[in-house]
Amino acid sequence: MENITSTEKKKRIFSAIQPSGQMTLGNYLGAIRSWVELQDKFECVYATANLHAITVRQDPKKLKENTTNLFALLIAAGIDPAKCIFFHQSQVHAHAELSWVLSTYTQFGELSRMTQFKDKSAKHSDNINAGLFTYPALMAADILLYQADMVPVGADQKQHLELTRNVAERFNGIYGNTFVVPEPYITKTAAKVMSLLDPSKKMSKSDPNTKSFILMVDEPATIMKKFRSAVTDSEASVRYAEGKDGINNLMEIYSACTGLTFEQIEDEFRGKGYGDFKNAVGEAVVAQLEPIQIRYKELLKDKKYLEELARQGAESASKLAERTIDKVYRKVGLVR
Ligand code: TRP
Repeated sequence: MENITSTEKKKRIFSAIQPSGQMTLGNYLGAIRSWVELQDKFECVYATANLHAITVRQDPKKLKENTTNLFALLIAAGIDPAKCIFFHQSQVHAHAELSWVLSTYTQFGELSRMTQFKDKSAKHSDNINAGLFTYPALMAADILLYQADMVPVGADQKQHLELTRNVAERFNGIYGNTFVVPEPYITKTAAKVMSLLDPSKKMSKSDPNTKSFILMVDEPATIMKKFRSAVTDSEASVRYAEGKDGINNLMEIYSACTGLTFEQIEDEFRGKGYGDFKNAVGEAVVAQLEPIQIRYKELLKDKKYLEELARQGAESASKLAERTIDKVYRKVGLVR
């Protein structure tokens, strides 16, 4: 019998995360964990998006430290350089090169409509730089360089992916088939994690109240304490329902960590109080994060090893990226 799947070419995935400080439980359950799962099914190319990070002012020492820490944390979480290509965006020249070319195929009007640009320029009104504006062209370059078939993105990056598709189609329309036009990849297992204190808002590390979010590196005791102070309601019944945003959020987190369905969770906590439930959620989160924290601390002891992993990743990435940039320069008429 012929095995078709073994000879079929795996689809390629690209994604990147900005090294902008600490990762939260929301980043883990919403994105990082699905990156890990995707490695077994697809050819995955992952990067830290440090070039994107400088569109807002950064302290150089901190940026470098955050970038290395993120790299280590993702490996600790299960991103395996033996299974995927993992590197820092700044290590592969072609990102900046293709970004420049693509920015000349991206319209001012299109970029002006990006909601992230509007939000960020309102937030950083003293530094509305050109890079903040052309940010989506760099993101398009990231994706198109690797001819990615699919990009796992959250809601906040959907508009940028749509723009990437438009730019790819525009370029292909002028010069003939050059880029794979990428599709968004929606992961079923990704959980949307809300603030523990205001469950109508997304969990965010920029919230001034640190009790509203869980960091991936929070001590187990801190995690337990934060869950104990999570906002719930006065009904004292663990069930998923409208108007129970706090409990719904805790159920979502518990489900994501244990694999239990909402029904199974309701059965488990029937007749029990919120105190028991909050403890169980805290313990389930600690069970996920503690092994990652241990590996993370271990990895950070050997910076040379981390550098070597990134260097190897960048080398593999460059090989793929060079093919695309060669093709693009040739089509556009640029001397190489
Ligand atoms: N802009 C993305 C974010 O802030 C990070 C990113 C950079 C990215 N390049 C990408 C995500 C390419 C997906 C694909 O979340």
